[in-house]
Amino acid sequence: MALITWNEKQHGTKVGFADDEHKVLFDLLNKLYDEATSGADRAVIGGSLDALIAYVVDHFAHEEKEMEAKGYAGLAAHKVEHDALVGICAGLQTKFHAGDADVTEETGAMVKGWLDSHIPAFDMPYADALNS
Ligand SMILES: [Fe+2]
Ligand SMILES: [Fe+2]
Repeated sequence: MALITWNEKQHGTKVGFADDEHKVLFDLLNKLYDEATSGADRAVIGGSLDALIAYVVDHFAHEEKEMEAKGYAGLAAHKVEHDALVGICAGLQTKFHAGDADVTEETGAMVKGWLDSHIPAFDMPYADALNS
């Protein structure tokens, strides 16, 4: 079963690129979660972990570029949130590849929880600015 399912009410931002990228991000997270919880090969899990994190970094950079272009006042606080998750992900990525950590159910739940909170609290509020 998918860990996280995109739906308009809970995740819709009214910003086209953001919704499109969030859906891809959810797909990458679900793929990683399925592999990690079904005993897939460690190399496969590592590849999916790297792909997810690379996509997250690109997505955050895209949002920040758009907020900057519109002179959005919430950019600085938003970037702090992004940087915090990237820091957590980078730590996990390093430990995973060193053989010191695994991707677990808790890892999936943490990222899902972050997205379920960040999208309504930080992404939805930029809609008016980014669509102006
Ligand atoms: Fe986002
Ligand atoms: Fe964001």
